[in-house]
Amino acid sequence: MDEETRLIRAGKPPGRALRTVAPPIQRGSTVLLPTAADLYDERQQTYGRQGLATQDALRDALAELEGGKSAQLYPSGIAALSGAMLAVLKAGDEVLAADCVYRPTRRFCDTVLKRFGVNTRYYPGDLAPAELLAMAGPATRLIVMESPGSLTFEMQDVAAIAARAREKGILTLIDNTWAAGLLFKPLVHGVDLSVQSLTKYVGGHSDVFMGAAVTANDAIGRQLTAGIHEMGWSVSPDDAYQMLRGLRTLPTRMERHGRNGLEVAHWLKAQPEVVRLLHPALPGSVGHDLWARDYSGACGLFGFILRPGPPKAVEALLDTLTLFGLGFSWGGFESLAIHCDPQLGRRQFPPNLEGPLVRLHVGLESPADLIADLRCGLDAFNALA
Ligand SMILES: Cc1ncc(COP(=O)(O)O)c(C=O)c1O
Repeated sequence: MDEETRLIRAGKPPGRALRTVAPPIQRGSTVLLPTAADLYDERQQTYGRQGLATQDALRDALAELEGGKSAQLYPSGIAALSGAMLAVLKAGDEVLAADCVYRPTRRFCDTVLKRFGVNTRYYPGDLAPAELLAMAGPATRLIVMESPGSLTFEMQDVAAIAARAREKGILTLIDNTWAAGLLFKPLVHGVDLSVQSLTKYVGGHSDVFMGAAVTANDAIGRQLTAGIHEMGWSVSPDDAYQMLRGLRTLPTRMERHGRNGLEVAHWLKAQPEVVRLLHPALPGSVGHDLWARDYSGACGLFGFILRPGPPKAVEALLDTLTLFGLGFSWGGFESLAIHCDPQLGRRQFPPNLEGPLVRLHVGLESPADLIADLRCGLDAFNALA
């Protein structure tokens, strides 16, 4: 054969690879089928868009993590949330969503779902389950929870909501990113769809985007799979590999994030500039009882309310911090801070807080160093408030 041909055929994979601790990264769009009959055999995987060995391994691991039967992967957390909703909703349906959902989730409901004939109504994140279900009408198809809620950390009685929704034939979905699928098991509590941004704690290093939707219900699992096929979503094997790598150390990292976060939260609680903590795992915080009942631990994300002061004082606090980066994400090894007030006014039920709200993500640094940094920040706040 000529050299062009030989180079195309050279170095084909050996029959059997050596075993390694980590799974191989299998890249491929084209899947080679053994015979002509196999090309049209619907039981066979004939194309790589839905993922090969690496994505399969991650899907299996995530189903295991959440106690589900199947998991699907999406290019980001928001894609997982929108993909899961699109998979189970149709024109004429209605969604009841917590007012404290992650803002892009709300944007998806208010724009895309609306355009396709699905209406969304919002409920206060701390609404009692009976009152929430009393809001449901004949068109209500899905309840979208986020617990703890974004920025304001409202806790919901997820099990009670799921049980009452099921009685009425309404599906439930939760954004389980705070718990990373580890600290809380929504499917075990009767929720139909547990969705998380793997970008946060599973990735753990602030460098890869991905999301997952997990279910214990076979019919919903098939709907998710069909949605992935029909929308053409795909995640790369390299990214799936990174997520699988993150998953191995998730419990260890989460334990440390939770412990560091609580140490910082306890310290903040004792500072004169701080009115109140929004941290479900902190005794005395709103929602602590539900957290203690349902959760096996905490992550590093929580908020604190300052005594009243002007926005410039809050900005001075943040600008003084040297160990906390100023950034919107969380779940990585590093500490981050944002002020939240500019976002809260856009809610239907804006919280009536005693002062400005700051959100912290406590990373894996030494809590003593983080506390010293925060003390400097609070001094800067005092100078202007
Ligand atoms: C609660 C929550 N859900 C979902 C997302 C979206 O994740 P991604 O950035 O992977 O789309 C975020 C991102 O900040 C989030 O905070």
